[in-house]
Amino acid sequence: MADTLTITDNRTGKTYEIDIKDGTIRADALRKIKTSDDDFGLMTYDPAFMNTASCRSAITLIDGDKGILRYRGYAIEDLAEQSSYIEVAYLLLHGELPNEAQLRKWSHEITHHTFVHEFLRKSMEGFRFDAHPMGKLVSMLGALSTFYPEAKKVRDDKTRRQEIVRIIAKMPTLSAWAFRHAVGRPYVYPDNELSYCGNFLNMIFRMAEPRFEPHPVLERALDILFILHADHEQNCSANAARAVGSAETDPYCSLAAASAALYGPLHGGANEAVLHMLKQIGSVGAVPEFITGVKNGSGRLMGFGHRVYKNYDPRAKVIKKLAHEVFEVTGKNPLLEIALELEKIALNDDYFVKRKLYPNVDFYSGMIYQAMGFPVDMFPVLFAIPRASGWLAQWQEMLQDPEQKIARPRQIYTGADLRPYVPMSERATKPAT
Ligand code: CMC
Repeated sequence: MADTLTITDNRTGKTYEIDIKDGTIRADALRKIKTSDDDFGLMTYDPAFMNTASCRSAITLIDGDKGILRYRGYAIEDLAEQSSYIEVAYLLLHGELPNEAQLRKWSHEITHHTFVHEFLRKSMEGFRFDAHPMGKLVSMLGALSTFYPEAKKVRDDKTRRQEIVRIIAKMPTLSAWAFRHAVGRPYVYPDNELSYCGNFLNMIFRMAEPRFEPHPVLERALDILFILHADHEQNCSANAARAVGSAETDPYCSLAAASAALYGPLHGGANEAVLHMLKQIGSVGAVPEFITGVKNGSGRLMGFGHRVYKNYDPRAKVIKKLAHEVFEVTGKNPLLEIALELEKIALNDDYFVKRKLYPNVDFYSGMIYQAMGFPVDMFPVLFAIPRASGWLAQWQEMLQDPEQKIARPRQIYTGADLRPYVPMSERATKPAT
């Protein structure tokens, strides 16, 4: 059997044979299907990329039906148990796990680029006291581009690597300072003796103590959460990083765009919505009534369901276990009992079973962040810090792919045909809107 698709165009009666590769046909292969010589050729229409692969990628694999997530072929469960975020960032960007010497060099480089220019610290002062930390992070990433004009050389391997290191190193600093600005506490400078996550906790929480000692359980929990959030293939923000980067925009501005996409409540904001929902439910006893309400259409069970996963999100499984370890240290988040009851009832209810609705990554993560002392509006920032390595891996892969060009979708024009300009005196009078 041939790996081809035979198409008959009923407008012309002509038949075409189109190659199938990797379960895909190339959209531009349809261009030869024409009704006349001056016909542009057949296009596909796919709002929201529901059935279109925009790239070939070797970074992350998701099998939504089986509940599988792998980075570069490694199961997320194995990475969460045995790896560190810094190692995972290396893996995403280089394709292989580092050996001991490579990891030492990589960690050293990241650690020694954590500081940001003092002018950037000063520019933080331009924000209002109640500015959302995610808005500040987006702006600071864009601002960083002005400090590193050489980053524009996106086709130069050495420069690209240098900027990748800088961005991964500076994300925690910018994020922590966005938080400190919001709460009016003095900025804490990086402590390069600490681990990536230990240093982030230092810049967030340190007060008068001469040296901040991160709690090892919380430090490791954050590291695991960072591993779980590091990449998720062609989601909205990764697509933004690729699309903006395809114009050869520097990586700082490309990541500012990706962060802006992540800021949206449909993308990086669901864990915050879960917390509001759990608070609103209020008690374990009120769960059955809430579930009935969801089934009757009064709202969604936030933290449940996923466009790709039609099974338990593998990240949610790891996070659920992690929640118990964190609560041993911080004390139990009182919302946990409500969440567990919600999950128990939903997983046994026909409405959720039939629609394949399972807990996703956001169901338990917010409760952990809250128990660790992070305010709710920092949640998307905590998502953006580790996702930077995924965005950079996607951005780099796009630049190195000889098939990629500047992203430029087509459209189906639905507007007016050519018409003569109407002078003001002849236009219909309508009230101003
Ligand atoms: N609670 C109740 N019903 C739901 C839910 C939910 N959380 N999610 C989907 N449904 C129902 C929906 O009403 C529909 O039912 P019907 O067939 O009777 O109309 C059916 O399930 C299919 O839903 P859909 O909206 O077509 O599914 P989708 O793939 O477009 O939406 C989703 C995916 C994540 C937006 C959705 O499941 C949802 O809104 N979940 C709650 C918000 C949430 O937790 N978002 C975080 C996603 S994970 C973060 C990330 O990876 O970026």
